[in-house]
Amino acid sequence: MKIKEKIAKETIKSLILNGANKNCDPIIIKSSKKQKSDYQANGIMKIAIKLKKNPKEFAKKIAKNINKKNILKKITISNPCFINFFVSSKFIEKELENMIFCKRLNIKKQNKKKIVVDYSSPNIAKNMHVGHLRSTVIGDTIVRIMEFLGHNVIRENHIGDWGHQYGMIITYIKEKNIKNISKMNLEKLENIYKKSKTMFDNFEYFKKKSKKSLIKMYKNNKKYIYIWKKIVNITLLENKKIYKILNITLKSKHIKGESFYKNMLKDVISDLIKKKIAKKKNGKIIVYLKKFKNKLGKKMGVIIQNEDKTFLYSTIDIACIKHRSKIIKANKIIYYIDYRQKRYLKQIIEISKKAKYINKNLSIHHYEFGTILNKKNKPFMTRKGKTIKLYDLIKKSIKKSKKIILKKNNKINKKILNKTSKIIGVGAIKYFELSKNRKKNYIFNWKKILKLYGNTSIYIQYAYSRIFSIIKKSKINIKKIKDKIIITNSEEKKISIKILQFEEIINDISKNSYPHILCNYLYNLSSNFSKFYEKYYILSEKNKKIKISRIKLILIISKIIKIGLSLLGIKTIKKI
Ligand code: ARG
Repeated sequence: MKIKEKIAKETIKSLILNGANKNCDPIIIKSSKKQKSDYQANGIMKIAIKLKKNPKEFAKKIAKNINKKNILKKITISNPCFINFFVSSKFIEKELENMIFCKRLNIKKQNKKKIVVDYSSPNIAKNMHVGHLRSTVIGDTIVRIMEFLGHNVIRENHIGDWGHQYGMIITYIKEKNIKNISKMNLEKLENIYKKSKTMFDNFEYFKKKSKKSLIKMYKNNKKYIYIWKKIVNITLLENKKIYKILNITLKSKHIKGESFYKNMLKDVISDLIKKKIAKKKNGKIIVYLKKFKNKLGKKMGVIIQNEDKTFLYSTIDIACIKHRSKIIKANKIIYYIDYRQKRYLKQIIEISKKAKYINKNLSIHHYEFGTILNKKNKPFMTRKGKTIKLYDLIKKSIKKSKKIILKKNNKINKKILNKTSKIIGVGAIKYFELSKNRKKNYIFNWKKILKLYGNTSIYIQYAYSRIFSIIKKSKINIKKIKDKIIITNSEEKKISIKILQFEEIINDISKNSYPHILCNYLYNLSSNFSKFYEKYYILSEKNKKIKISRIKLILIISKIIKIGLSLLGIKTIKKI
């Protein structure tokens, strides 16, 4: 239920009636602790001043003219100029009943759109490292949320599987006469990549050979393509393992890497020249954009073709936008790429706009994110300064979770222990990532990740299992019960309003892609439940009607936790 939106709508109607502009914003928020109300309007003062009216008088008039519908019980004014809204308990009770037996908790679907989400996108011949956690985990959450809201979501794993690095790797493999590539693991392949890079940087002959190899590969030479395919497959096999253990919805069918666009590049380059967007300079083909200048105020160019006629990362991304717009006919493209590529992506979008590759009904968003740091505020790496492999990190979290579980219950069955520690360990890393504001850097801290109390997944998973066991103990078959939910005190009302806000939260994230809002919400809901359970009787409540009502209330909470965590790609456990 979007109560906030409904109150805002009615308030705006009243504001317009009293002379305000159509686009005015009464700024409806959940009431601060100071106010006794459920919602409040914070934007009245500003509008009154703009209209040159006495703020308090104006607020009174606005309040009087608001249609309470069946949602609000009363509206009051408080100093200096706030409007306070009190939601009707009857309305809340009815809405809760609508939620309880509905699979999607009565959350409305949005107008269906075709949304391409470009996320994870690791590079070939390299292990996925801790840096890939953000794009992979945040991207997957948004994909789940958008699908839940009824959209047609197209996952695209834009892997780095085309480009000059293959010239080096293939040359190295041929030069050293390395056989049996199929049996090679990613470890060895990554090593070869590094060695070939050193050769490339230090030996002119190797550089020349690598460039020749690359051209051969681009010209579809069978032998070269054969090696390339092997290199790609070795990497993908490892990535698949990570997606599986991390419960990421990306599958092989979602791979649409850089190589997918290889046959479109020539046309894009000649089209950009024809449209006078790109021009030749020193053998290269470059696009100069007025909007983008360097520190000296000079126009900065985006190279789309090298002297040797090979293309670049940028050329592929332009072709990719064109494809997503003209062929896929997407309404929205969302990129989850780190903040360092912000300017680059802006340039690519600008070029695509100029070339008229972007359909009118397509919007493009770059949801960037910061870096994961260590305790010393430096990028998170191993002690020797190497990147941390994502797989190792996940394994470590599972191992640590195992210890925590054993501490609580050392008689636990081994199979259950393994299953539970995986759910907890994977959930903890994902949740820690998702609970941070994606735009900011964050410090990776094991102690905080696996804390039993506080804003962690374990805490929420634990609340879920507690509710589950209360409901089980009650032996009440809720489906057969006729008694309805009744709100008997202010805390029940508060928790109920929080429950009804779930839809608002999901909708907010679909607009701005900040999953930490959902984490905070689930954490607060779980801790509200715990506090409520400490203060009030549930199982031992003597009044049968109240007992049933409370059981129904906590059942909805558990459903929200389950759905909420599943949207974050985290599993729940019935018993911890
Ligand atoms: N492979 C790239 C990297 O690791 C990310 C690709 C993101 N997607 C894109 N369309 N450029 O930096």
